[in-house]
Amino acid sequence: MTDEFRILFVADVVGHPGRDAVKAILRSLKKEVGADLAVVNGENAAGGFGLTAKIVAELKAAGADVVTTGNHVFAQKEFLPELPTLERVLRPANYPPGAPGVGSCVVEAAGSQVLVMNLMGRIFTAENLDDPFRAADAILAANPTIKIVFCDMHGETTSEKTAMGWHLDGRVSAVVGTHTHIPTADHRVLPGGTAYVTDVGMVGPRDGCIGMDKDVVLQRFLTAVPNRFVVASGPVTFNSVLVTINSSTGRATSIHRVDREHV
Ligand SMILES: [Fe+2]
Repeated sequence: MTDEFRILFVADVVGHPGRDAVKAILRSLKKEVGADLAVVNGENAAGGFGLTAKIVAELKAAGADVVTTGNHVFAQKEFLPELPTLERVLRPANYPPGAPGVGSCVVEAAGSQVLVMNLMGRIFTAENLDDPFRAADAILAANPTIKIVFCDMHGETTSEKTAMGWHLDGRVSAVVGTHTHIPTADHRVLPGGTAYVTDVGMVGPRDGCIGMDKDVVLQRFLTAVPNRFVVASGPVTFNSVLVTINSSTGRATSIHRVDREHV
């Protein structure tokens, strides 16, 4: 058995175009890069806002082993009762007690146990959430024996996500940022052995405004009149990262961007 464990993380899947790209790319990409586990952020998969159990099933059928979310997790009302019934689907762990669902899970893959956690930043997104830093500490304290730990930190600001990378450096295998839909160029392994990137990007229409129809978004900026965002169409950018981890130590040895297009 190889000592290496590889996690492919797929950034925020936006609407139908994003789901189609995941269906077309993910299974073969997992094989191509030798991924032992695929984690997919699905929080924009239902028409750009939220998730449903049906869409979770689609993502899993396409190769997603764990689905993470973020600030839009409860955007589809039907998802509130559905979420607690679904396995390996996470909402941010720092939702206050009483929110449906869980923020972390342990999965088995390729002979290893993997702890996956989902956190959300508070700045400019959800100031009424609990502290994500302490939420991460509590999850780690509750799972002291698991070496491979993967964290999706969903948040708006680069500083809050960078701070989480440093907070967890040496204690988790990877911290990857999501939510802005714009990939950042700072992927690296931090000194303590934690793979880090501020934002992975998205799986969504390239010629929109972070996946939404650009004309509708522009109209709101130009007039300040509220309107309903709709998912853009056209070619889809598929952003992901591949993290390689020493399964004995839980330390990351590399993080690479894996970017594709789906026309
Ligand atoms: Fe988000």
